[in-house]
Formats: sequence, C-alpha cells, structure tokens
Amino acid sequence: MKLLVTGGAGYVGSHSVRALLDEGHDVVVLDNLSTGHKWALQDCELISVDLRDETNLLRSIKNRGFDGVLHFAAKSLVGESKNQPALYYQNNVGGTTNLVRAMQAADIQRLVFSSTAAIFGNPVSDLIDEKHPKTPINVYGQTKLVVEHLLQAVAESSDFSATCLRYFNAAGANNAANLGEWHEPETHLIPNALRAAAGTGNALTLFGDDYPTTDGTCVRDYIHVDDLASAHVAAIEKMSAGGNFNVYNLGNGNGYSVKEVIAACEKAVGAEIPFTIGPRREGDPATLVASAQKARDELDWNPQFGAIDKIAQSAWNWECYRRDSLA
Ligand code: UFG
Repeated sequence: MKLLVTGGAGYVGSHSVRALLDEGHDVVVLDNLSTGHKWALQDCELISVDLRDETNLLRSIKNRGFDGVLHFAAKSLVGESKNQPALYYQNNVGGTTNLVRAMQAADIQRLVFSSTAAIFGNPVSDLIDEKHPKTPINVYGQTKLVVEHLLQAVAESSDFSATCLRYFNAAGANNAANLGEWHEPETHLIPNALRAAAGTGNALTLFGDDYPTTDGTCVRDYIHVDDLASAHVAAIEKMSAGGNFNVYNLGNGNGYSVKEVIAACEKAVGAEIPFTIGPRREGDPATLVASAQKARDELDWNPQFGAIDKIAQSAWNWECYRRDSLA
C-alpha cells in the first residue's frame, strides 16, 4: 500500500514506519519536525507541513495516490497539556480535524489513529478493556478522546474508516534499526532511569511510594514500541473503507511497579540506579493495565516483547547508542 505517516519522525511513528517498510509498503512521512528527528526518517520522503495549515496540507496530499494514513503527529506530554490546554486542543483536535477534511477532499478513506490509555482516567476495574468508562483526568487524554468521537462521527456518516489504537506505556527500542526514544524534555520513567545511569540526564526521582499497590509505587503496563508498530501494520492492512470504526487497547496485560521497572533497568545496565522518593506527580493513577484481548482476536496481534527485562535491555542499548553516536 502507499501510506502517509504523520509524525513518522517521532518515537512510535518511526518504529511503525520501519515495520511498514519491512512489510513492503511505500511510506511517505509528514512531519513538522517540532519534536521528531531527521535521523529517524529512514530515507522516506518528508512532507514538511504543519497539520494546522489546512491549505498546504490538502495541497501536499491530494493526487498522491495514498491508500491510507497512519496518524501519530500530536502533542503528547501530560504535564505540558495542563499548562497549555489551547495548544493541545489546537494541535491534537484541530490538526486531526484538518487531516480528516483533507483526506476526504483527497478521497483517502482509511485512517489509523494513535490514541492512549489516558482517555480512561482513573480505572474502575483491574484490567481495562475497550468498554471501560472514559473520564480522562488530563487535557492530553481529553484531546485524544475528542478525536475518537470525531472519527466515530465521520465514520458513521461517510465511507471513511478509522481504527483507534490506545497505547498503554510505550517503551523499548529497535536496536537493529538504531531507532529509539528521544524526547526533550524527557518525562518517561524508563528513559529517565537509563539517562541517569548513562550520565545523559538528571538524577532519578520516584514520584510517590504511598499508592495502594504492592510496593506503594504506581503500576503500569509497558508495551514494546515494536509491538505497537506491528499492531499498526495489522490495523492498516485489515482495514477496509465503508465507514468502519474500531478501537483497540494495546498492552501486555501485565503490570509492573515503578520499583520493578527500576530493578529491570538496573539489570540491563549492570549497576545500581540511585533514586530519591519525591511527592506524587499530579494526574498519575495508581494502576493502569490493559486487556488487549480484542486486538489479539481481531487483529491477530501477538506482542513479542512482554517481559520488562527485554524492554529495558533494548532501551538501554538504545540509550548507549544515542549517547555515543547522536547526542
Ligand atoms: N515516574 C517516576 N519518575 C520519573 C518518571 C515517571 O517515578 O522520572 C513514574 C510516574 O509517576 C508513573 C510511572 O513512573 O507512575 C510511569 O510514568 P511515565 O511518565 O513513564 O508514563 P505515564 O504512565 O505517566 O504515561 C503514559 C504515557 C502517556 C499517557 C499515560 C496515560 O506515556 O502518554 O501513560 O496515563 F498519557
């Protein structure tokens, strides 16, 4: 297929581009490189357009023969979303609205959308399936939920089809392709722990050890970024036009506490990673673990990197490469 990947120079986007190329698809990346990286482009053609620029967006995607779009481009920091809500609505909701309008004008009818566990808010069950109530507790989650509603409405009123993939905690790296995570500022646990170990970041702070969990630290479902990538390949390949709308939760179904994740990182590094206990971070639910049975059943999705040790090892290999070759 000929596919447009927005945000293809970003973390999950670039790994998904790799997976699409490996499956023989023809990929063009659309990215404004505000947070994405040129080194992550993998020789794909780059369309340098901002999704907020509807005129140029339509001009650059019409008559290109795209069969579908995978849409990763978004603002994605929970803390930042609290301080700059209008920026998040403009980028995530406004940008996606422009993209859908341009796709319809260009007669492109298939979209895979990067959604998030943040749409659920505080969980009311141990495992979160697709029907779990959606009450986001941060602006980032709100914007992603609004886009899901938008896509459902468009699919119900036209031939446009959309699949929303809700990631739990994306982590790890593709060492063979020299791809990995690089955010500035970095807010995520695993890269922060590994940057502390590699001497490329600040000392690690653990945000709260008084949660109602086994060791008092937050529990999350870490999913390898290449497993997310394979779900995107399956989603776009299985999609047909005709106004279909689908949602899938993507996780391993296993929860690891912050302390367990730090221990896995220490194993990968081969050294202790010192940390201090700080206060809770606002907006962090105690536990977030997915039920991804629907994706396994309907997309034939079979994640390969469930063990946190493997995820941490690939992230550590990447952090060493990043420090030695890119930073
Ligand atoms: N944490 C620390 N220290 C750090 C960073 C994180 O203790 O330096 C803790 C957090 O408090 C949390 C856990 O480690 O308990 C995981 O935090 P991350 O920032 O790595 O990931 P989140 O669970 O906060 O975020 C993920 C996605 C978001 C999404 C969110 C949904 O990265 O995009 O899940 O809740 F919005």
